[in-house]
Amino acid sequence: MIWLMADDARLLERARAVRLRAYAPFSGYRVGAAVVDENGDVYTGCNVENSSYPVGTCAESNAVGAMIAAGGTQIKIIAIVGGHEEPEACTPCGACRQTIAEFAADDARILLLDASGEPDMQTIDDLLPGSFKL
Ligand code: THU
Repeated sequence: MIWLMADDARLLERARAVRLRAYAPFSGYRVGAAVVDENGDVYTGCNVENSSYPVGTCAESNAVGAMIAAGGTQIKIIAIVGGHEEPEACTPCGACRQTIAEFAADDARILLLDASGEPDMQTIDDLLPGSFKL
């Protein structure tokens, strides 16, 4: 697709790979996320569920947390892949949209799979228009 940049496929592959490490015995739904920061460094995260269900964390938040902990400040690209068995269309939950909005560069690109399993690109304004900023 025309919007695909050279490294997009590689970043989606990182999200697919980390998805396989998800700890999701309760939902059986595994999610992987891979973030590129302003320096081109990549951070990954997967969902980590818990016996006490609300304690579980999302892949996107874990990946963004890793970026912040390493000193990155801006999301330039985030790839998200999720699904029960095989990866399917998976968009970030509301809380993760807010987390992405907090750190998204103006030109941040959000890579997802569409309903056909093909790569798709969205912006944070597509996913969370008029997001809250303090
Ligand atoms: N999940 C994520 O990791 N990211 C999202 O944006 C949506 C949901 C996880 C949470 C839970 O472990 C599983 O997917 C099913 O909701």
